[in-house]
Amino acid sequence: MIPPDIAAVADYEPHARRRMGENAWAYVAGGAADELTLAENRAAFARLRLKQRVLTDMAGAGTRLSLFGQDYAHPVLVAPSAFHRLLHPEGELATATGASALQAGMVVSAQASLPLEAIVARASPPPWFQLYIQPDRAFTQALVRRAEAAGCTALVVTVDAPISLRNREQRAGFRLPAGVEAVNLRGAVPPPPAPPGEASEVFGSVQRGAPLWADIEALRRQTRLPLLLKGIMTPEDALRGLEAGADGLVVSNHGGRVLDGQPATIEVLEEVAEAVAGRVPLLLDGGIRRGTDVLKALALGASAVMVGRPVLHGLAVGGATGVAHVLKLLRTELEVAMVQTGCPSLSAITPDILWRPRGGR
Ligand code: FNR
Repeated sequence: MIPPDIAAVADYEPHARRRMGENAWAYVAGGAADELTLAENRAAFARLRLKQRVLTDMAGAGTRLSLFGQDYAHPVLVAPSAFHRLLHPEGELATATGASALQAGMVVSAQASLPLEAIVARASPPPWFQLYIQPDRAFTQALVRRAEAAGCTALVVTVDAPISLRNREQRAGFRLPAGVEAVNLRGAVPPPPAPPGEASEVFGSVQRGAPLWADIEALRRQTRLPLLLKGIMTPEDALRGLEAGADGLVVSNHGGRVLDGQPATIEVLEEVAEAVAGRVPLLLDGGIRRGTDVLKALALGASAVMVGRPVLHGLAVGGATGVAHVLKLLRTELEVAMVQTGCPSLSAITPDILWRPRGGR
């Protein structure tokens, strides 16, 4: 079922592309505009160098961690992504099964293509729910109640995507096939239509319902679940997020799918971590394709990472087994890298494991 020539996560890509076809590929692989940030997410990891350390005693070595009171076997989580039924008939149920096989945390997208409750029932450890604050705020609140009742253990509010232009998708004429939709958003009242003669479609659409900081503060009062903000790329927004009551932050540029021209996530992680100064856990996503990438992110201040496209590639190629295999590859590579850099635990992974040229930064 898993093609025999797969030795690393990136090897899934050509297989996934053939399986999913050009339409879905444009949706999954694409980034915003010229895809500069999409490419940077990878290139910036490649520029970071590691220091090998030898003869370290690895007695008692492990990758365990605790986040918001829940134990995790390792720091690689499944990032929230939309419409898994576009890639596999079992959709998010297959993803949850695969993630659970590796005891990986999973974040269920607001735009999941299957009912939230059914996905949560398949997932162990219990998943987190990713929320897009809907123009219909009452519906948004009801959705939060559903996530709580279903047993989700954290709420991840994605704040970076009120609007985006993905040219690759536009050129491919991407459309969701019949029968694939964001089923958990059914029944939300759509925003009011644009008034005739509206000066700007763009400004108009964000004015009619895009979330603001006040919505985060309100949400903080409406739920007891740990609240994370996903899409933080500056120290300023990180500090504003803490002020609004966030319990965790995800350094993310949405996999290069929103503002093209911004830096890679791994490039801004250190300055965000300095501003946050350990007050809340930081997660990072964008371009994680190797265990050494996980190690680099942890060295620069992340507690854990999330993986987007590779999980989708695994899902398209091998369903639950493919997802589990992708996570297994990353986990194994992380452990190998920990041995080679002399880190018996995640807390031993510090900036000291990064090689920096003499006289450089
Ligand atoms: C996403 N992402 C995303 N994020 C989110 O908060 N809600 C969502 O519904 C989606 N949907 C989605 C669909 C697809 C096809 C992709 C590729 C991505 C962004 C995702 O959570 C994550 O930030 C990036 O995918 C991380 O980058 P990598 O790992 O794909 O490089």
